[in-house]
Amino acid sequence: MNDMLRDTAVFSSNIDLFKFSFFVGKDSLLFMDGPAHLAERNKIAPAFSPSMFPLYFDGIRDLSERTWARLSRRADGKPFKLDPELRRFYAAITIELTTGVCGDSDLCERVRKSFVSMIDGLIGPAFGPLWDRTVRCRNEIVSILTKVVNEKLEHEADTIERLRASLHDQSSLRSVKSLLKDGADILQVLLAASQFKTGPNHTHDPDEFRKLINLLLLLWLAGFFTTAATTSCAMFEMGKDPEIMRRLVVEQDDIVRRAGSARVTFDQLEQMPLLDSYLKEIMRLFPAGNGIMRNVEKDVVLMGKRIPKGTNVFCDLQAANRDEAVFHDAEKLIMDRFVVKHDGSDPPPRIIAFGGQASPHFCIGSALAKMMLRTNLAVFLRGYELELDPRQSKRYRQIPDYTPASEILVSSLKRRT
Ligand code: HEM
Repeated sequence: MNDMLRDTAVFSSNIDLFKFSFFVGKDSLLFMDGPAHLAERNKIAPAFSPSMFPLYFDGIRDLSERTWARLSRRADGKPFKLDPELRRFYAAITIELTTGVCGDSDLCERVRKSFVSMIDGLIGPAFGPLWDRTVRCRNEIVSILTKVVNEKLEHEADTIERLRASLHDQSSLRSVKSLLKDGADILQVLLAASQFKTGPNHTHDPDEFRKLINLLLLLWLAGFFTTAATTSCAMFEMGKDPEIMRRLVVEQDDIVRRAGSARVTFDQLEQMPLLDSYLKEIMRLFPAGNGIMRNVEKDVVLMGKRIPKGTNVFCDLQAANRDEAVFHDAEKLIMDRFVVKHDGSDPPPRIIAFGGQASPHFCIGSALAKMMLRTNLAVFLRGYELELDPRQSKRYRQIPDYTPASEILVSSLKRRT
């Protein structure tokens, strides 16, 4: 099965998803296969290399801190819905990380609103007033992003050139942190890996420019719902079972407070095995991308069933992650299921929230996503505690994402002492 998934002569990405291709371009890496796909991925891979993460971390932590502080002030005895706030946070941080536009700025808010309106167009027909609005919103985002990219190439030329030099020498990627003391964003890294000329008054290859803007839209589309939905499930389960929150807080206090740090640091994120395991368990039970689609390029027999050429198949990640043959008590949330034991026992099985290991399209943002999730939750656990409203429904909905059916109704979000 794994070999077949890897073989694009059997399963390809040649799927006709009109609306997605309208949003991110027909030549997006989503719809590519084989060497052309690999070449596109390789071009953007440095931006997703964990060696870059220390440069992205401060921005994520700062926006997390401001967001939880704002929400705890806002809560002030009045119940509120957490999910829209989580979506707002992850949209803002995804825009900030991928463009450098501050997540709290009016510009970010404008882009975020247009983006959300644009993707509303995923539902409904591709004509009529709703679709017209989708097209208008997309045009507005493209023109803002065009300006952002041009300004970056002109005003951040030094940073981009320094990154460019270090990208040519892979071994110096690790020391990139010392090159860029004030942090960096993904767009700077993407531009460093591109052929675009830096400095004022350059005209750029319009096709390459279009592809870059489409790539940013793909990163937003792929990155923000998934992280928001995962956090939503993590917060929901913590609210339903305060013992989960209590154990995570003990781990936090042990690591962050004992180190005497006022704030969570990047290195401390690596020392939270229980938080790590809990997030894996949440992604196992409630994978945000609920499945992956492929086109069958030739007749095959898969798990005993004949699948004719031309069929679109949907690999159900929700079912795979609850397979009793792989995970014991698969329906049950066991928060330390993935804590690695050093007693010679087998390592925990792998979850497949980010696509199968054999998939050439395996989520390129998976490590970054984990870092965003861990940072945001660590900041929450470090400073706050939450209670669900007693009227909260305990049910989930599964489509389009696994999320609490009635969203999360919080009755109290306060600083913990
Ligand atoms: C919890 C968060 C996330 C989940 C569960 C998730 C899940 C997935 C899944 C299931 C796929 C499809 C894999 C396949 O077709 O084999 C995918 C692809 C992708 N993801 Fe993620 N993702 C997450 C976060 C992110 C983030 C934060 C980014 C970037 C900012 C990102 C960027 C991408 C891209 C660009 C692809 C397409 C890769 C390709 O076609 O080669 N994802 N993701």
